[in-house]
Amino acid sequence: MALTAAELVKADQDHLIHPLHHPVDNAEPMIYVRGRGAVLTDIGGKEYLDGLSGLWNVNVGHGRAELAEAAAAQMKELAYFSAYVGSSNIPAITLASRLIQLAGDPMHAVFFTSGGAESNESAFKTARFYWKAKGRPDKIKVIARHNAYHGVTLQTMSATGMGAYWKMFEPRVPGFVHIPTCYPYRQQGMKPGETAGQTAARELEEAILREGPDTVAAFIGEPIHGGGGVLYPADDYWPRVREVCTRHDVLLIADEVITGFCRTGRWFALHHWNVKPDILAFAKGVTSGYLPLGGIMITRAIKDAMDAVKPEDRWMHAYTYSGHPTCCAVGLANLDIMERERLWEKAAAMGARLHAGLTAAFGDHPHAGDIRGGRGLLAAVELVADRGTKANFPADRKVAQRVQAEMARRGMITRTRPVAGPHPATGDMIYFSPPLIVSGAEVDRMVAITRDAVKAALGA
Ligand SMILES: Cc1ncc(COP(=O)(O)O)c(C=O)c1O
Repeated sequence: MALTAAELVKADQDHLIHPLHHPVDNAEPMIYVRGRGAVLTDIGGKEYLDGLSGLWNVNVGHGRAELAEAAAAQMKELAYFSAYVGSSNIPAITLASRLIQLAGDPMHAVFFTSGGAESNESAFKTARFYWKAKGRPDKIKVIARHNAYHGVTLQTMSATGMGAYWKMFEPRVPGFVHIPTCYPYRQQGMKPGETAGQTAARELEEAILREGPDTVAAFIGEPIHGGGGVLYPADDYWPRVREVCTRHDVLLIADEVITGFCRTGRWFALHHWNVKPDILAFAKGVTSGYLPLGGIMITRAIKDAMDAVKPEDRWMHAYTYSGHPTCCAVGLANLDIMERERLWEKAAAMGARLHAGLTAAFGDHPHAGDIRGGRGLLAAVELVADRGTKANFPADRKVAQRVQAEMARRGMITRTRPVAGPHPATGDMIYFSPPLIVSGAEVDRMVAITRDAVKAALGA
């Protein structure tokens, strides 16, 4: 007999370990049973707007039967076989070719993984491999940024720039260096006449010189930060970062795990600034979360290095599920939807509406320090105690947590990030990353719910 809702909750609390597990956040777990478009239904039949596309990934929206059918058809034919070298399958070959076309020059080849952390792990190892293959074995370090999120395997945790992810798992892997990011709202260390983008790019160059360019393999960054704050860079940041990396022979790894697959109104976010990475890490939106899949795209130069080494020096890196035929078949069907429905255009149009709505609702709100958005459906409101000084709320006021709970009560699910410390650390932030098929009316409701929830939590 099926378990009742109360029995499921009890079993969850007893037997299921969740990401970021702690019972304090699991006293009343939500159990979702259905998704359609941008709407989720819980086990009690209550509906919620999905303000975060699951976990920034359900780009085509929930309930797409054609993705289920693509998976079923591939499973019936060949669910799985190893794609270790010497063996391949049609969905993996086809998807790799299509991704290279979408990413554009200079991307040339794809290695598939099962998710974002595996993708970034693969990127770091590939950067080291490349420099060893080029006779520069000391180029091993990776420069990453404060407030970055790159995953939680030991290496990607070490690249992640948020101390809460390290605390109980230290020591971190050696060779990861953190620098400030481009965060115009609170940019520190700006020299007279410098823009925020120039400052942050200069600090990257200074870090490379400090560490020694001969020791640095790569720089990694999310084109627009996700979990660390939906931090939008200044427009002059990424072009300068590219110049700095090129000048010092440092590979540029773009972590497009959130920003890829039309999320920002382009296929990939670095396209906004016409910046070309050396390695592009992806996951999430490649299947819209219907099955786990990720990967890295690499340039021809890196592919050539892989092809040129002696067999005993090969790129000895692998996952059982690399090139998984069923996951790749779903990826292909997902891209069909994105192309057919021109989801990059929808994301741009609805993103503009969301940003305009948030600006109208919070533009003169006494606690809305920064409103970020406008590049597709990726936005945030950063709440502060005092707009003038940018002073943050104390952590024990639990502003983000209370706003999130008020939003859920009003029928919208999203993520928030609690204040990270006093200014210039990030304040309490509310994130928006709804499915790209969200309607205008749903966007407007999300804004209204957020406004009401903030009022309930803060009294203003
Ligand atoms: C930018 C970014 N990189 C990497 C990851 C890690 O992906 P995964 O959770 O699939 O390992 C995430 C996950 O949210 C992410 O947002």
